[in-house]
Amino acid sequence: MNVKILGKVRHYRTVTFHPARNTVALIEQRLLPHRFEIIETRDFRATARAIRDMVVRGAGAIGATAAYGLAQGARAFRGRSLEAFSRHVDEVYSTLKNARPTAVDPVNAMNQVRAAMRAGETVEEQQALALAAAEEFANDDVRHCEEIGRHGAKLIRNGSRILTHCNAGWLAFVDIGSATAPMYAAQAQGKKFHVFCDETRPRCQGATLTAWELAQQGISHEIIADNAAGHLMQRGEIDLVIVGSDRTLGRTGEVANKIGTYTKAVLAKRHGIPFYVAIPLSTIDWTLKSGFDIPIEERSESEVLGAWGVPVNLKSQISNLKSRYVRIANPGSSARNPGFDVTPAELITGIITPVGIFRPRELWKHRKALGFGL
Ligand code: MRU
Repeated sequence: MNVKILGKVRHYRTVTFHPARNTVALIEQRLLPHRFEIIETRDFRATARAIRDMVVRGAGAIGATAAYGLAQGARAFRGRSLEAFSRHVDEVYSTLKNARPTAVDPVNAMNQVRAAMRAGETVEEQQALALAAAEEFANDDVRHCEEIGRHGAKLIRNGSRILTHCNAGWLAFVDIGSATAPMYAAQAQGKKFHVFCDETRPRCQGATLTAWELAQQGISHEIIADNAAGHLMQRGEIDLVIVGSDRTLGRTGEVANKIGTYTKAVLAKRHGIPFYVAIPLSTIDWTLKSGFDIPIEERSESEVLGAWGVPVNLKSQISNLKSRYVRIANPGSSARNPGFDVTPAELITGIITPVGIFRPRELWKHRKALGFGL
């Protein structure tokens, strides 16, 4: 998407690769919205750390980062033995896979890269194929998000008031985003609407990333505290909910997404508000048979016990762009921090995919069109 920095507008992808330096370039998302910086990871371990520590986050973005990280690791191998190369690639794969467990996109992305590498007969050929496949994954991610926008824009009317949770915007993908794609497409069609961004404690991706993105793209929005959605729904101030997903089960239609999504789905059902989930094909897990089997990441308690921000002066002007952590909670109290929850199919009106909008339990019926077995 386009980013305006110091008066200049430039198009950025969240994740790119520099073949000559064998580095992965990432927007440092932990600094947003106060600072815009690109960092480069120099080897696959640094790339895995960037995923684990959430320099880059969001299902599609960590999928593309893992794909590039696999290519990066493969290209760093020196030698001709295909056996030694394969052992090395196994290690790269598991290091990147273990960086974050809930999103399935990194696994799907790396499986695609590994499948493409098999056509190579030498180490060198496989290295070249790895990078080509990683680039293809990143380009497909952009294309899928464009298509999600095309299908999802129909759900947005002039005057719609939309709730979204966390950040399933372009920062969570290579470009455009999943939940935001219908919004950007509707905006391009000239529709006027308003977006409520859940703050999304504990890391506040809604207040920091989604709000920043929407502001950059000139979309009317307000941040709400996570607990405010029920009140607004009860007063008839929300017409539609669109969220993303980190893993959607193709067999059952269950959706893992940022903690708090399930609560919003229950509220939406209570108030008869349509609840949609937008996903590229790489977010579908065709293997698991129950949402209870989805690995839910438990993150550090420090995220719940405190918060990051920048100091402001009395006129609310930011006085220092360096983010600081402050303790909020009672000293000595501990916290529990599950990062994701699972929303059952019956609470979801539809899944917006690149090939159309489906009822969650219909994903399996449409599995061929949705890329199953590719
Ligand atoms: O922990 P994060 O920030 O990587 O979580 C991912 C998310 O931003 C959300 O769960 C999002 O809604 C889906 S990712 C496209």
